[in-house]
Amino acid sequence: MSRRKITVVGAGNVGGSVTQRLAEKNCYDLVLVDIVEGLPQGKALDLVQAGSVCGYDSSVVGTNSFEETAGSSIVVITSGIARKPGMSRSELVQTNTKIVQSVVKEIVAHSPQAMLVIVANPLDAMTHVAYRVSGFPKERIVGMAGVLDSARFRSFIAEALQVSVENIHAMVLGGHGDSMVPLIRYTTVAGRPLNEWCSNETLDALIKRTREGGAEIVNLLKTGSAYYAPAASVVEMVEAMTKDQKKILPCAVSCEGEYGFDDLVIGVPVKLGSNGAEAIIEYALTPEEKTALGNSAQAVKELCEQVDLMMDKKS
Ligand code: LAC
Repeated sequence: MSRRKITVVGAGNVGGSVTQRLAEKNCYDLVLVDIVEGLPQGKALDLVQAGSVCGYDSSVVGTNSFEETAGSSIVVITSGIARKPGMSRSELVQTNTKIVQSVVKEIVAHSPQAMLVIVANPLDAMTHVAYRVSGFPKERIVGMAGVLDSARFRSFIAEALQVSVENIHAMVLGGHGDSMVPLIRYTTVAGRPLNEWCSNETLDALIKRTREGGAEIVNLLKTGSAYYAPAASVVEMVEAMTKDQKKILPCAVSCEGEYGFDDLVIGVPVKLGSNGAEAIIEYALTPEEKTALGNSAQAVKELCEQVDLMMDKKS
């Protein structure tokens, strides 16, 4: 019996880390694709050799051609440029729209049944591009951002309260940008709401640091953006799908009526299982939370409109 085939597009830091984490699970056949000659092949060979030491025998193939990705059940799209210090994610929109568009066309041709996990930024707009270009049902297109933003929020809370991160459940919704919405009322520490653990001042500082969490790392690295936590977040989503876990995670999906959004890709709580985004869970929101989510949606909408204009011009 062959193993489930997963393709990772983009052999940069995120793609390499995703492939490594998935290889270590020892239950997938992996294909790493990139346009740079030698890069995916080199990383794949290195990962196979690491298996001798780490005790996995996952197949990892590196390639510059989409032929070898054929029949993938999940495709993770990490390709595209990352931001540099001082840049916002939305400044990547022109370049990454072209890249995601061409990658998705290849995936549709070679793996028409695949589920797509989008990682390229600006995340919500790139997930919108993938949804539009693929023509796949919306259940099969999920963007990774909420898991990462919630992971950052959890780690900052753990540090501030000096408790285990495992005690913390957090929900960060909205677009993957400065107006993302960490939902305090739905964030708990050992089951107790976060606001009962700390002052409003501390809460505000935690929210601010979470919103700027990506930029904090970009400013430190100087040459690119985060990859360990993004890769770990992708793997949590992939495993929720391959193991049919029905895990509820914040993911970017197309809302068609949910939360009052009409045909808009944005981060909301989603049940992930073997059919992809099997359900969108609608939380009751206060007027303030609704306003915050609405502001974030407005920022995403503007980017999606830019992307649509670009794609309409070309086609
Ligand atoms: C971040 C990038 C990957 O938030 O968007 O680190």
